[in-house]
Amino acid sequence: MTKAVILGTGSCLPERTLTNADLERMVDTSDDWITSRTGIQNRRIAGKDEQNYQLATKAARRALAVTGVDAEELDLIIVATISSHMIMPSTACFVQAELGAVNAFAYDISAACAGFTYGLDLASNYIQNRPDMKILLIGAETLSARVNWEDRNTCVLFGDGAGAVILTGSNDGRGVFGSSLHADGKLWNLLCMDSPESLNPDLRRADWQGAHIRMNGGDIFKHAVRLMEDAVTGLLRKYDLTIDDIGLMIPHQANIRILKNLKERLGVPEEKLFINLSQYGNTSAASIPIALDEAHRQGRLIRGDIVLLCTFGGGLTWGSLLMRW
Ligand code: ACO
Repeated sequence: MTKAVILGTGSCLPERTLTNADLERMVDTSDDWITSRTGIQNRRIAGKDEQNYQLATKAARRALAVTGVDAEELDLIIVATISSHMIMPSTACFVQAELGAVNAFAYDISAACAGFTYGLDLASNYIQNRPDMKILLIGAETLSARVNWEDRNTCVLFGDGAGAVILTGSNDGRGVFGSSLHADGKLWNLLCMDSPESLNPDLRRADWQGAHIRMNGGDIFKHAVRLMEDAVTGLLRKYDLTIDDIGLMIPHQANIRILKNLKERLGVPEEKLFINLSQYGNTSAASIPIALDEAHRQGRLIRGDIVLLCTFGGGLTWGSLLMRW
């Protein structure tokens, strides 16, 4: 059976690094608080000429270069993002134009931090229908534009960046073979971000608080650990696998304490868990593709190994996905 394989990966991080010491000068916080509560030491912050679509395009160019695929060969571009620089057109359309991917249709998907994993499942389904398709899937965020820089509860957590993969069909046993994706919209207000204020007075909301991220950190923490654990154990059971069968687990990079909790509950050995959170913070939909690209370049993705992704974000949205590399 044809499955979607990743032909190559690429990523792009902004030039500027914002350290915990920098944040100490901006809000009432400390390096010690941030490091012990989150594991984050640095995050990259986009500057001039580093709009969301520009980071996404650079990540895509790197993925295209390593795979030898021409932009004109692409059939579809999907960008997972919640921080596009314009509401319309989509970031994917900007990327399509920048790359000259004239044969690709293009759109964005919105599933917060789970966006890339949702997108991988979507791309996998397209490819099962049309195995010759070449799909560019990107996770890209500039959450620095959506964070309230006076709110110490959130501004220390997030960073900017983009990661990209090129997918096509393969019959050699490799590729995406299972996923377990979920949502619970009733819990939307645990982690949310308002749109710009409505220009229609009838639709203007009395509780509008500005187009920035708001979060109930404690509740998010508890849900993230429990729901990612459930998504992973359920998916492994479905495919008659155990954590010992996994070559590398690449989780959404949100918070070191969430990841340590998950690691202990699932019994994942240290060397099988990929973590780069301390350098980039939480880059939302970009965190898994950036990690995939780093893991790939570090030689930690071995052909034939099973790779496990798991993710959690605003929505709530969460899930896990299995692929043979
Ligand atoms: N510096 C210093 N103090 C802070 C900071 C900060 N940056 N942020 C919050 N505090 C204070 C709070 O105001 C609060 O003070 P108060 O008790 O006087 O009201 C206190 O710290 C809370 O302390 P703790 O209860 O020890 O904080 P906790 O251990 O819950 O850690 C954190 C907070 C890090 C937000 C935690 O709840 C968490 O990691 N939640 C998950 C959040 C997350 O990862 N969100 C990302 C998006 S979702 C995702 O991607 C999975």
